[in-house]
Amino acid sequence: MNVHALAKRPLVDEKDAAFAQDVIAGLSQHPKQLPPKYFYDEAGSKLFEQITLLPEYYPTRTELRILRDNGLKIAATIPKHAALVEFGAGATTKVRLMLHQCTFDAYVPVDISGDFLNDQADKLRKDFPDLEVYPVTADFTTPFALPPPVSDMPKVGFFPGSTIGNFDPHEACAFLRSARAILGDGATMIVGVDLEKDEQILHAAYNDADGVTGKFNSNVLVRSNRDLGGNFDLSSFVHRAVYNRERHRIEMHLIAKKAQTVRVLGRSFVFRAGESIHTESSYKYSLERFAALARGSGWSPQASWTDPDQMFSVHALTAAH
Ligand code: AVJ
Repeated sequence: MNVHALAKRPLVDEKDAAFAQDVIAGLSQHPKQLPPKYFYDEAGSKLFEQITLLPEYYPTRTELRILRDNGLKIAATIPKHAALVEFGAGATTKVRLMLHQCTFDAYVPVDISGDFLNDQADKLRKDFPDLEVYPVTADFTTPFALPPPVSDMPKVGFFPGSTIGNFDPHEACAFLRSARAILGDGATMIVGVDLEKDEQILHAAYNDADGVTGKFNSNVLVRSNRDLGGNFDLSSFVHRAVYNRERHRIEMHLIAKKAQTVRVLGRSFVFRAGESIHTESSYKYSLERFAALARGSGWSPQASWTDPDQMFSVHALTAAH
């Protein structure tokens, strides 16, 4: 028998400690909130993959189309023999497209989920034999070191999917500044950004008819029950996504259907009937507002591309001096 199996298992292991802290802090706030990064455990990542295939959810397929239709122009903004650094590496569809359309010497996927990262890295090495792949297991919202072999290569940051939309504007600015510091002088950054549009389209995209987005949203409660010994009754919470026009963002909420008390990690959290947990903000930008954000965060906007319906955008930025 393995000696570790005999050691007393702590209630919450190290990987769950940050989750535990954030859940307790978030549920103690008024209004209650939980960070969206905790949607993406194995089940949550699968649900997100399902979302990207929904007819109502336009961002993923639109961004892929923009990347495909503008391959040559995007390649023209990218230096030769560069290292592509992807912030948060999930499905490899988009990066594969980038690797086919532009030539890179190295690929550095950065993600908190190490297992998935190494799996995908092996597959990419097989499919791109001339590419050096150096996965980095890190939270890309905090500073991390690039692997030494890429230190002398020009860097190209890749942040697709409008993941930047999950940050409040001041956090988005902090992220872009940190990326500028990590990638260094002479860097380029390719960023996917969802555009502001008709409210009905946004509403449908985040309240899909099959209820997949609702499952994705409540997965954070499932995870709290499983990993933090919580007792959320899933049937007592309902998914709601609303557009906040003043703040240019879609908000996802979990609404308590009735008054109730929930226990997590031995603590009690009281809900009024109709009380919400704000679980995600997904900010939408105009081309000009995003360019202004980039300029204020150490980058010079070089070019941007959109689809014919102006649903989504891809921006090329270069490090400002
Ligand atoms: C992965 C953050 C870009 O904001 O549209 C999808 C996540 N949330 N449906 C988004 C999401 C609800 C998605 N991002």
